[in-house]
Amino acid sequence: MPGLLNEAELAALAEARDRGLRSIEGLPPFGFGAPADADRIAQWDIDIGPDGEGLPAGRGSVERGEALYRNQCVQCHGSRGEGADYEALAGRTPGDRFEFADHRSHPITVGSYWPYATTLYDYIHRAMPQAAPGTLPPDDVYALTAFVLHLNGILEPGDQLDRESLPRIVMPARDRFVRDDRRGGPEVR
Ligand code: HEC
Repeated sequence: MPGLLNEAELAALAEARDRGLRSIEGLPPFGFGAPADADRIAQWDIDIGPDGEGLPAGRGSVERGEALYRNQCVQCHGSRGEGADYEALAGRTPGDRFEFADHRSHPITVGSYWPYATTLYDYIHRAMPQAAPGTLPPDDVYALTAFVLHLNGILEPGDQLDRESLPRIVMPARDRFVRDDRRGGPEVR
């Protein structure tokens, strides 16, 4: 396994999320529409936070992910995630440097660009496979996430993912971004 987030880093992600929720709860009523019931909210509430908030129970291994990938993903993304009809999912930049502005030829991939591994779960569940988004059960999504991370040299054969381990993975590009903490006021330029 690669480097892992420590408790303080996980707590900082959760605290940023809670701050965002508190400001939504403070909005005044709008005077139209009807409250959505819990079932309706659950159908839409599928986002996964950087700290893993929203991840379901379940688990999946690199090996099971490879089998699923061969059946459902390979035709569009290539056998090793190198890209086929559609974009590449795998590939790191030399030394994990972040030189996209200077070297336009570097591919932007999960391994070279994505700051959080949890986004991969969110994306695959929400949007893939392209013809049937939202149909993959949690065990399949964990497995496919594990295999795509393996293709990027981030997980090894035999590794498994679940809602405890996935948020702890430190992606190569994690420290290449700054958190956008603007509040929508005059500080936005
Ligand atoms: C029919 C073709 C097709 C299939 C099959 C498919 N994908 Fe995709 N995938 C796409 C396209 C097109 C995009 C880009 C969508 C966009 O940018 O709006 C994409 C984007 C992605 C991305 C985001 C890449 C990035 O860096 O932005 C991931 C991750 C991904 N697919 C994973 C999968 C997985 C896992 C499967 C199998 C379960 C799968 N895809 C099956 C066409 C496909």
